[in-house]
Amino acid sequence: MNIGVFDSGLGGLTIFKALRKELPQYNYIYFGDNARVPYGNRSPEIIYQFTKEAVDFLFKKKCQLIIIACNSSTSTSLRKIQREYLPKFYPDLRVLGVIKPVIEKLKDSRLERIGIIGTKATIKSEAFIHEIKKVIPTAIVFQQPCPLLVPYIEDSMRNKKVLQLLLKEYLDPLIKRKINSLILACTHYGIIEKEIKNIVGSNIDVISEERIVAEKLKDYLKRHPKIERKLDKQKKVEFHFTDPRSDYKKLTKLFLNG
Ligand code: DGL
Repeated sequence: MNIGVFDSGLGGLTIFKALRKELPQYNYIYFGDNARVPYGNRSPEIIYQFTKEAVDFLFKKKCQLIIIACNSSTSTSLRKIQREYLPKFYPDLRVLGVIKPVIEKLKDSRLERIGIIGTKATIKSEAFIHEIKKVIPTAIVFQQPCPLLVPYIEDSMRNKKVLQLLLKEYLDPLIKRKINSLILACTHYGIIEKEIKNIVGSNIDVISEERIVAEKLKDYLKRHPKIERKLDKQKKVEFHFTDPRSDYKKLTKLFLNG
């Protein structure tokens, strides 16, 4: 059986890359719904519908476990998938998201003023605020939707000036609020982590999800040996995209090697 990794497009590759580094022995199937990216500007209902379709696709490909490497899907759909969809259709299989691992990791740090950047859907869901308040009730959280970043990244990121303008527009309000940490609540943003760090400076801790999610999955598999035993260990990798655009192979390689 395989581990499935799902995102609306290229963003989940940041998670996929970290998983392969931390847990190289397993077989992975990556699924990017790039025909319908971005998800973040869509309604929670339609994101849930798309997420169910991705889950069906990956389970048909013999995944034992799926990581939803998309915050927009995790924040709007994970709970419903876990509580309603899996028990009904796939009671022996598992779907995990990206938000809980990050928040669990944060609980040991002393974070007071936290900035969150994400898609409109993630920000509107308030999933991060909800989870942060459970573990750090005194935290002050500032959110900023960044709807143009995902289309920019999916479009090969050719114009660096455009990226600078977008990042300044989105990050300045958070810097003015004197945040001391910034959560990249969209897996696409891991691809531009360096550019984000350059703008916010070294006084703000930038928290990117990929390494945390990989560490937490390792932990999860240790705690769930029955699931771990079912996973094949031949280091095989497959990629599936809903729109096999000619430039996507190149972009996938670029992001995985970069
Ligand atoms: N990587 C997805 C996320 O983490 C991108 C969302 C989108 O397609 O807008 O939210």
